[in-house]
Amino acid sequence: MTIHIGAEPGQIAETVLLPGDPLRAEWAAQTFLKDPVCVNRVRGMLGFTGTWQGHRVTIHGSGMGMPSLSIYANELIRDYGVNTLIRIGSCGAMQESVELRDVIVAMTASSLSTPSSGIFRELNFSPCANYELLAAAVSSARTLKTKYHVGGIYSADVFYDERPDLNEIMTRHGILGVEMETAELYNLAARHGARALAVLTVSDHLLSHKSLSSEDRESSFGDMVQIALEAAFA
Ligand code: HPA
Repeated sequence: MTIHIGAEPGQIAETVLLPGDPLRAEWAAQTFLKDPVCVNRVRGMLGFTGTWQGHRVTIHGSGMGMPSLSIYANELIRDYGVNTLIRIGSCGAMQESVELRDVIVAMTASSLSTPSSGIFRELNFSPCANYELLAAAVSSARTLKTKYHVGGIYSADVFYDERPDLNEIMTRHGILGVEMETAELYNLAARHGARALAVLTVSDHLLSHKSLSSEDRESSFGDMVQIALEAAFA
């Protein structure tokens, strides 16, 4: 057991899907996994372990924002031996060509800062996805006929941004979407020799200001979970 995860040693699989929302972890585990068992409920951050097509997998909440994700990803990798981490979450679209419900496979994650900035100091480290997972996710999205995009995303520090010019700069540089976790997930995976990927569903649009209702969110998130599972075990 760790400070934030109550699972016994061995109760967490080597492959973990990380939604931000613990209730989405519960929904995904009940919808996609065989015999899911709740392995964590410390601070309400639910985690479930079960099997998918015979492979052991854990679906565990990360919370919102990079500091929260950093706690869970560190403990999962360092204390539970997790070697594959796939974020499944929502993002805001930053390009006209990206629509609500589209899936974004994040090749890189730009940021203003991350919890690792203190280590990198003057270095501008490039957090990037594991290529093997990325290629497998693209192949799965194609097979499922999901509308998908592959490219850079922006991991922001704040949801309520007082500097909209930052979003505008990201849009001008071809960044597909904004969320708040992936850059640090990729930093941590690089540091500890793990594989990481983020597969995101577009829940809102920064240019058109449209957004999915909560019912729409649930029904359109299934493809993202399917793509993440297929990528993990390709
Ligand atoms: N901004 C930041 N994070 C997000 C957004 C957004 O618009 N949508 C989903 N996660």
